[in-house]
Amino acid sequence: MRDLIEKWSGESLVVSYDQPTGTWIFIAIHSTVLGRATGGCRMRVYETPDEGMLDAMRLAEGMTYKWAAIGYEIGGGKSVLAIPGPMDPPVREGLLRRFGRLIESLQGTYATGEDLGTTPEDMAIVAEETHWVHGSRSDASRAVDPGPYTARGVFVGIKSALRAVYGSDEITGRTVLIQGVGDVGEPLARSLREAGAEIMICDLDEALARRVASELDGEAVVPHLAYARTCDVFAPCAVGATLNRETIPQLHCRIVAGSANNQLRDPEDAELLHKRGILYAPDYVINAGGAIALPAIDSGKVTDDEVWNRVNRIEAKLDEIFREAAADGESPVLAAKKLVERVLAEHAKG
Ligand code: PHE
Repeated sequence: MRDLIEKWSGESLVVSYDQPTGTWIFIAIHSTVLGRATGGCRMRVYETPDEGMLDAMRLAEGMTYKWAAIGYEIGGGKSVLAIPGPMDPPVREGLLRRFGRLIESLQGTYATGEDLGTTPEDMAIVAEETHWVHGSRSDASRAVDPGPYTARGVFVGIKSALRAVYGSDEITGRTVLIQGVGDVGEPLARSLREAGAEIMICDLDEALARRVASELDGEAVVPHLAYARTCDVFAPCAVGATLNRETIPQLHCRIVAGSANNQLRDPEDAELLHKRGILYAPDYVINAGGAIALPAIDSGKVTDDEVWNRVNRIEAKLDEIFREAAADGESPVLAAKKLVERVLAEHAKG
């Protein structure tokens, strides 16, 4: 653990062990340079607490990049509830309340929201204990779900990537393989199908994959065989690190564009994709829809139409990143990184 923390570029890490449930709680505060460290709360089982901690730290860093890329004055943070296994609702509620009180004790250094493994209902419970929850409304039993906004951002991002690769953003007839049909993957699959795409789906929950696939006249694919399937777009919409030196050589697609955070396991994986001629949409840009929408909705000052407009602008941002990457003959990851570094440097100046 010490080694991981010493190597991390973030500001601070809050660790708490929740005795009643045996859950490790990690709140990673990566950067407050642009503002309050903000990012969702992930709840899942990890092999070891260290893995949960590392996930929190890496995801928090991703949030720093995401906020900078969309030009919000918000910093990067993330929390992980590393649970030992599934929990009954009252037990889960107790954990969420203690987590909420822990956030409240940080006095506004960190704000949370929904992420993989948590629901809008969970966030409404957390919001009863702390002010610092995005998307919560005091009158509602569920918080605003960022999923559909994130899905829209990925949809327009896929159009941008199709234009960059094929010169046309026509979706009809394109094949998209969606890895993970959760809160984002499912609405994404539906909107792509409506636009005429052929859909393939994989999910660790294979019954779910089969159900969604049959609803969309698509095909369910066994998870470990998904990488090698021929498709136009491979869309990782589940956990991170699914693109790595073992899986990238298997890919049979021209584009990787999905909603998962931290899709690449190692920084070198961007180069591996680039060398294989696969266009990769940087995760924190294409998946920023939820992050764009939640603070805008919370402000109470932005109309619904304007929120969707802002999310749609992900398309133009990716156009710019793909253009710069092509002009310099480099991976879009590098072009996106330069964009973020410009934003952070400008902020430091002024
Ligand atoms: N968890 C989502 C993300 O990583 C949405 C979210 C953004 C939730 C910001 C809370 C705060 O983008």
